[in-house]
Amino acid sequence: MPIASTSQLLGYSPRVTIIGVGKVGSTLAQQIGEKNLADVVLLDEVEGLPQGLALDLMEAKGISLHSRQFIGTTNYADTAGSDIVVITAGQPRKPGMSRDELLKTNAKIVVETAKNAIAYSPNAILIVVTNPLDVMTYLAWQATQLPTQRVIGMAGVLDSARFQAFVAMELGVSIADVRAIVLGSHGDLMVPLPRYSTVNGIPITELIDAATIDRLVERTRKGGAEIVELMQTGSAYFAPAASTYLMVEAILLNQSRLVPVAAYLQGEYGLHDIFIGVPTLIGASGVEQILELKLTNAEISALHLAAQQVKQNIEQARSLLAN
Ligand code: LAC
Repeated sequence: MPIASTSQLLGYSPRVTIIGVGKVGSTLAQQIGEKNLADVVLLDEVEGLPQGLALDLMEAKGISLHSRQFIGTTNYADTAGSDIVVITAGQPRKPGMSRDELLKTNAKIVVETAKNAIAYSPNAILIVVTNPLDVMTYLAWQATQLPTQRVIGMAGVLDSARFQAFVAMELGVSIADVRAIVLGSHGDLMVPLPRYSTVNGIPITELIDAATIDRLVERTRKGGAEIVELMQTGSAYFAPAASTYLMVEAILLNQSRLVPVAAYLQGEYGLHDIFIGVPTLIGASGVEQILELKLTNAEISALHLAAQQVKQNIEQARSLLAN
């Protein structure tokens, strides 16, 4: 007989459900536990896999010494009452494969998992990580009919982190002083904004020549593919998990973080009825504000080009789902 249950000891604990327990999902679960942020429900369709990972994470607690619980399950009923649902389920990219080729398979998975999860956690905030990210976020929103504020795509945080890393490596400065911002879709058409990226407030355009910036921008655009090419048997997961963690933390701790995420636009930046990466404030209620930066004509054109591709893929996904 236990002396006291964890919930008796700690009172209310927030609950995060992670759907899809591949590398991104399981690394995210570990971070949420180790930072003592929330209980985590790991859900996957492969019987035994989420249960095994949850048990492994529970066993690590004796060393990492946090008080959060991990539950592994294949049953959506076990996810009930989650504050946040993160969808990472889907096929990863294989070498040479574009994110958009994943469209059909992942559209089905995302629509189904989002509906099932929100049926049990109607008040949750949904974070979509599955690729092609901007399209999947739209489909998840449509499938669940959640208020747009509560549906968020993770990509801008990751793409900005990559740009930040490349700038820090190029200049040989601490990453702590580098802030970078990347808008647009999570793909080759993403829109890094060097003018708004700084080393402790100094725009990188003052510190790095234009040709080098172009090279770093290009590397950022292909950041995911570079890792796929290197690994051959998988895609990036430490930075994607860390980026998702930042968003989960911003929501659960109501931090009002100013970060780019895929958010629903209704006229901002001249775009309508689309999820795409823009600067937002993220807090307890999800996307609390969308910030409209002044963009140059070239930047706005690049954003619109990315939006055009996302819209085409949404249409394609819808027709694939209808058949
Ligand atoms: C990447 C994949 C996760 O960018 O989209 O690494």
